[in-house]
Amino acid sequence: MGRVALVTGGSRGIGAAISKALQAAGYTVAASYAGNDEAAAKFTAESGIKTYKWDVADYEASKEGIARVEADLGPVEVVVANAGITRDAPFHKMTPEQWKAVIDTNLTGVFNTIHPLWPGMRERKFGRVVVISSINGQKGQFGQVNYAATKAGDLGIVKSLAQEGARFGITANAVCPGYIATEMVMAVPEKVRESIIAGIPAGRLGEPEEIARCVAFLVADDAGFINGSTISANGAQFFV
Ligand code: CAA
Repeated sequence: MGRVALVTGGSRGIGAAISKALQAAGYTVAASYAGNDEAAAKFTAESGIKTYKWDVADYEASKEGIARVEADLGPVEVVVANAGITRDAPFHKMTPEQWKAVIDTNLTGVFNTIHPLWPGMRERKFGRVVVISSINGQKGQFGQVNYAATKAGDLGIVKSLAQEGARFGITANAVCPGYIATEMVMAVPEKVRESIIAGIPAGRLGEPEEIARCVAFLVADDAGFINGSTISANGAQFFV
């Protein structure tokens, strides 16, 4: 049995590709999901990867969910904080509810996912933390003040965790996907999406597997000196 890896939001979109890539690399994978029971059941039936339901925005639910995963599979040594939502609107139309929903899930959800696992990683002197940020946390995006704030926040989280975890054999890194062919991007109005694709030098959306590849690289046992870094995978749309 390989190391246990937890992928939040791991049954759909980029998360599902990450779960499958880690399984293929020999990890024992648990995928959490928030609400779509049907998609989770289908994912488990297809992949054999166990799925667990909890809301990452809720600290106690995250703690309990992680305890269930560890009771079933053993200590989680690799965690990929991937779960995220969008509530896009131009700032003048953005409601406090749209702001709060995105902050609670995308930013506090990252805290809620990593925090319960951190003491065990410190004790065992090994851990791999990857946070899925976004190109829009690097460059900002019209209509995404809330989302961009959380994704920029992710970069602050991993740079700080890297410094705290390094002497315990724990690494924390971020991946910044560009526009990837997932339901989230397909929900962008078609005309807007077309103009976004026109601005990607690769001339296409990315594939979820192209993000999963970055994660598999970062969590490997021999990636211990890569710490606090950000991998951008965006088809040359933006350079930091
Ligand atoms: N730059 C400048 N102006 C823009 C613009 C842009 N990028 N996008 C829209 N506008 C302008 C429009 O031309 C329009 O101008 P006029 O009023 O002069 O015609 C105006 O802004 C649109 O205003 P509306 O009040 O009509 O906007 P809306 O309420 O319909 O909301 C929106 C628009 C929700 C922001 C929509 O443009 C949108 O969905 N944009 C895409 C946002 C985006 O990229 N989301 C990424 C989702 S995927 C993801 O998040 C994954 C990831 O990590 C990459």
